[in-house]
Amino acid sequence: MADYIYKRQSIDDLVPGMVLGKMIVTSDGKIFLNEGAVLTLRTIQTLQLWGFRSVDIREECTTTQQTISENEQLGELPVADLAVQQPDDFSADQQAQSEPAIVEEAEIPLNVPDEFASHYNNAVQVLKKHLGKVRFIKDDFNGDEIRRMVTMDIIPLIDDHSVTDCLQMMPHEEDYLYHHSVDVGIIAGCLSFWMGRNYHEIEETILGALLHDIGKALIPLKVLNKPGSLTDEEMHLVRFHSLRGYKFLKQYGDFSQSVLLCALQHHERIDGSGYPMAVKGDKIHPYAKLIAIADVFDAMTSLRSYGKRATPYEAVEIMKREMVGKLDYEICSVFLDKLSQRFVGDIVQLSNGQRGEVVFLNPHDCTRPIVRTRDGEFVDLDKLRELSINKMLHS
Ligand SMILES: [Fe+2]
Repeated sequence: MADYIYKRQSIDDLVPGMVLGKMIVTSDGKIFLNEGAVLTLRTIQTLQLWGFRSVDIREECTTTQQTISENEQLGELPVADLAVQQPDDFSADQQAQSEPAIVEEAEIPLNVPDEFASHYNNAVQVLKKHLGKVRFIKDDFNGDEIRRMVTMDIIPLIDDHSVTDCLQMMPHEEDYLYHHSVDVGIIAGCLSFWMGRNYHEIEETILGALLHDIGKALIPLKVLNKPGSLTDEEMHLVRFHSLRGYKFLKQYGDFSQSVLLCALQHHERIDGSGYPMAVKGDKIHPYAKLIAIADVFDAMTSLRSYGKRATPYEAVEIMKREMVGKLDYEICSVFLDKLSQRFVGDIVQLSNGQRGEVVFLNPHDCTRPIVRTRDGEFVDLDKLRELSINKMLHS
C-alpha cells in the first residue's frame, strides 16, 4: 500500500492533478469530494468560490516516516476554511483538532473572471454614454467610440466560455438595454466565430448586435419601462423599434448596410412571422439571422423576460421546441451544439431541490443530462422525465 505525505496547501497554490488528502463533506454530512479525488480546474474554482483558503492534499512518498507535519496540523484554521472528516489512519488527537465539515448549502457565488467583467463593464458604459442621449440629442451620435469598443472590449472576449459568462452578469433594471446589447454583441461574436466567419464579418456582426436595439433608446422611457400590459399604441411604438433604429442609424451613423439591416431585421423570422416587414428566408441578412438567435437566447435567460430567468437548459428546450422554422436552422444548430458542450461541469439544482453536477450529456437531448448529486447518486433526467433542472448554481 502506498504511503502518503499530507500537506496543507493554499487554494491559490492548487493546480489541477493534485490529489485531495481529506474528504470534504457538506454541513449535512454528504460527501462533496472524497479523499483521493484528483483536483480539476473546475473543482479548484468551486473551492475558491466557496471561500476556502486551503485544503489538504496528499502526495505519494517513498519513506514511511513522513506524515503531516505538526505545524500543518496544529496551524489555526481560517474561519472560512475547510473542515473535513479524517481518513482512517489519523490519530484520535489529530481528529480532535479538526473542525466539523462546513460546506454551506447557500447558493454558490457567481464567478466571472475579472478580465471578462472589466471588458464587459467598459462596453456597457460606452453604450450607455452614446445610446443614453439619442432620445434627446440625435445629431450628436458618433459611432467611432463604439467601433473602438468592439476591437478593445468585445473581440478579446470571443471564446467558448463567454456565452455562459454573459449569463452571470446581472443587469440592473434601468440599464437593461445596455446590458442586453452587450450580451447580444458577445454572443453574436462567439456564434459568428463558431460559424467560421472571417474577422471583418465578426466585427460587423458584433457592431450590428451592439446597435440592434438602438431603436428602443428612442422610445419614451415611460413606455419602455412601463410595468404591465401596453396599450395598442404603445405596443405599436415598441414593435417598430427595429424600423426606427434602422432609420436612425442610416441618418446619423456611418455604418455599412449590413449593420443597418441588423437593426431592421433582428425580429424577422425565416417563416415570415416576424416584423416589421415580415420578410422570409433569404430576404433576411445573414447577420440579422444570427443576431436573432443571440437576442432570443439572451432575452430568455435575462431577469426581465418571461417573468422568471430561464436556465440555459430551459432556453435551449424552448428554442428547440418553439423556434423550429423561425430561426435559421444551421446557425441555431451550431449555437445549441457549442452551448451544450459547456453544460458538463455545471452545478445545478433540480426541480426536487437536489443539487449536483452535470456529468454526462444525453446525446439526443442536451437539456436532460445525467446529474451526480452530492450524495453520489446519478440522476438520469432523460429517464426521470418528472424532474428537470430549474436553477443554475454555477457554470
Ligand atoms: Fe429588438
